[in-house]
Amino acid sequence: MLWMLLVFLLLSNMQQHYSCNAFGNPQVPCLFVFGDSLSDNGNNNNLFTLAKTNYPPYGIDFPMGPTGRFTNGRNVIDILAQLLGFDDYIPPFANAKGEEILKGVNYASGGGGIRSETAQELGDQISMDQQLQNHQITVLEMNQMLGNHNKSAAEYLSKCIYVVAIGSNDYVNNYFLPRFFLTSRIYTPQQYAVVLNHQLSQQLTTLYKYGARKFAVYGLGALGSTPYERNSCGSGTNVSACVDNINNAAELFNDGLKSLVAQLNQNLINATFIFINSTGIASSSSSMASMVADVPCCKVSSVTGLCVPFGNPCSNRSQYLFWDALHPTEILYELYARRGYKAESPSDAYPFDITHLALL
Ligand SMILES: *[C@@H]1O[C@H](CO)[C@@H](O)[C@H](O)[C@H]1NC(C)=O
Ligand SMILES: *[C@@H]1O[C@H](CO)[C@@H](O)[C@H](O)[C@H]1NC(C)=O
Ligand SMILES: *[C@@H]1O[C@H](CO)[C@@H](O)[C@H](O)[C@H]1NC(C)=O
Ligand SMILES: *[C@@H]1O[C@H](CO)[C@@H](O)[C@H](O)[C@H]1NC(C)=O
Ligand SMILES: *[C@@H]1O[C@H](CO)[C@@H](O)[C@H](O)[C@H]1NC(C)=O
Repeated sequence: MLWMLLVFLLLSNMQQHYSCNAFGNPQVPCLFVFGDSLSDNGNNNNLFTLAKTNYPPYGIDFPMGPTGRFTNGRNVIDILAQLLGFDDYIPPFANAKGEEILKGVNYASGGGGIRSETAQELGDQISMDQQLQNHQITVLEMNQMLGNHNKSAAEYLSKCIYVVAIGSNDYVNNYFLPRFFLTSRIYTPQQYAVVLNHQLSQQLTTLYKYGARKFAVYGLGALGSTPYERNSCGSGTNVSACVDNINNAAELFNDGLKSLVAQLNQNLINATFIFINSTGIASSSSSMASMVADVPCCKVSSVTGLCVPFGNPCSNRSQYLFWDALHPTEILYELYARRGYKAESPSDAYPFDITHLALL
């Protein structure tokens, strides 16, 4: 009912303004999403894991309330979908059904990593490899819907955008959690970045084999600067050195990812990859500079860094970069989406932004 009312309001609004961005006429036929909690919109709700957020105060600024999104309002994918002209949010794989999948599916899972063991200390999560398997199921269903010659499905899929935003947990819930994981004893940060970039390269190539041709890959944010990592650096240590150490490790991954994008553009015929510089976007935004960055908006659990259930969050969400100790508020997600979609600085997107990717 609410949905119909919104459609009606928007349609009547369009008629009045003769808007050129036609409603329900997206710039690409579909949007597929692979990633972690930054993009998850409900895939973890029925999993046995601590990494779930389908309870208040999550979703306090979202029309449907707590849905399993890891923020107060819309996440980066919700906003990207709107910028691309979709009239509805992309459904999570967990409950996408029927013809709905033709507009795309969101496979992202809180805790999900490039490596399968990542975040297992929290319980279950859907790793990138499993997300690819889930996508294969979708592709098979689409083949049936679009007719038996899978040429038509392949042609359709080649026009869709595939957003991949993954790797944060391979640091936060793996490399920098030596109590549970061995990776930091096996690899230097430089070696670990290479290992992750290499595995992601294979995963992106698998996606290509399933028909993907337009890829937007998000780099990692400044993971060390999250309230969670600041706090885990502990008292008695040099916090800023500890924060820098984590940020530098993430930056090694980002530098490698950008080179990987250039390499895949050369190696995979007819495919286009772009890299979105999340760290650069956040650090160069003047509006973000004045916001509260070191403490989260909600009251968090010291174990998970997630909001405690039914706690009272800060009233002024637009003044905070972090909603809980790990995840951006809607306002920071909006910045990542907006400048990935339409770059405001040459360093925001490489070799170009999502607007151009959609037009190809
Ligand atoms: C088309 O069919 C072939 C063989 O059945 C399969 O390997 C390929 O993945 C399919 N492509 C798409 C885009 O569905
Ligand atoms: C803490 O680390 C920073 C580098 O990240 C350094 O500039 C600073 O001098 C250090 N402070 C102390 C007290 O060691
Ligand atoms: C590349 O695109 C051309 C033109 O659409 C098509 O004929 C060809 O089969 C494509 N090749 C691959 C490997 O996708
Ligand atoms: C991201 O942007 C910043 C400037 O905002 C730049 O210093 C940095 O090198 C960029 N990172 C990558 C991987 O391109
Ligand atoms: C809320 O935001 C306004 C506008 O920037 C600011 O003046 C005010 O101090 C903020 N209040 C709180 C409680 O953060």
